[in-house]
Amino acid sequence: MSTTQYLTKDEVGILLTAAAHAPSMHNTQPWQFDIQGAVIDVLRDAERTLPVADTAGRMTRIGLGAAAFNLRVAAAVLGHETTLAFEPDPAVPAVAVRVFLAGRKVPVPGLSSLYGEVGRRHTYRGPMLDAAVPPEARRALTEAARAEGAQLHWLDGHQRTELGRILAVANERDIHDEDRLHERMRWIGGERDGDGVPEAALGPLPEGPAAVRDLAAGFDRDGRGRAVFEHKPAIAILSTVSEDSHAWIRAGLALQHVLLTASSYDLATSFLNQALEYADLREDVRRLIGRTSWPQLIIRCGYPAQSSNHAPRRPWEATLEEWR
Ligand SMILES: Cc1cc2nc3c(=O)[nH]c(=O)nc-3n(C[C@H](O)[C@H](O)[C@H](O)COP(=O)(O)O)c2cc1C
Repeated sequence: MSTTQYLTKDEVGILLTAAAHAPSMHNTQPWQFDIQGAVIDVLRDAERTLPVADTAGRMTRIGLGAAAFNLRVAAAVLGHETTLAFEPDPAVPAVAVRVFLAGRKVPVPGLSSLYGEVGRRHTYRGPMLDAAVPPEARRALTEAARAEGAQLHWLDGHQRTELGRILAVANERDIHDEDRLHERMRWIGGERDGDGVPEAALGPLPEGPAAVRDLAAGFDRDGRGRAVFEHKPAIAILSTVSEDSHAWIRAGLALQHVLLTASSYDLATSFLNQALEYADLREDVRRLIGRTSWPQLIIRCGYPAQSSNHAPRRPWEATLEEWR
């Protein structure tokens, strides 16, 4: 390390620790970072993708977008405005997002206020209280998605019932698809150190039908308690108008803006994304929201009824590829 570097080691630690707290499918953390002066590249790590469940790399790019959003939030606390370029270099396709830090001033209003939520937010797979999500919070989450160029659709009772039908089909397929099952077994269940989803973070098994995804369906269900889930889950679908790799990165930025905003209202969140991992079922979900945009994530939201555990992360040093 030279003494003329733009960022100090502490600042790099703050930025990359925040980025690492982003959600990623099965907690694969499919990212590496390359820092050159005031430019941070968020790179796709091909060793940490899910070739069976995520053939196109859509979920991977959503995770990379979420990591880039957390970078922006941490940079805002350090006083840097940020601008982003998506897949800026055709010669290096692994670079998903290039983050440019502007000269240091004072903490950037807005974004920096979300910094406290970065470590608090996590995926909560337990039951929610029956209390409704207040309209003000719904509006704030919808606005958070819009700020990143995405949409959030809150489902009404009829749409929720219809989604329940689609989820039941997806759950059934998930259990019987040997390849997907093996891929999930590699990342999910048991004790985990650094990545993957440990059994302790999987939440209880539902008593009766519930809007929840059991990531360990088909294996590793011993030792988990059971719980009755909420009757009317608040469910929102995050979508983008276009459907390409840039839209997926954008969906990741929007997802993280929505999740951190939810956390700032003390709301817990989880995902029902199994319905989007099969092309025909994703089309059914697309129809549910009027076919005007592409569903990227299905988010369940509410006040948590139990405590819950966080999934582990690798130390930030393990994600830093180069620093010049
Ligand atoms: C694109 C994407 C899809 C996901 N799909 C699901 C899902 O269907 N079910 C689920 O329980 N969690 C899902 N997750 C949440 C991840 O499992 C979670 O982010 C990861 O384990 C890290 O844990 P944390 O969110 O608690 O920090 C998804 C996350 C992303 C980014």
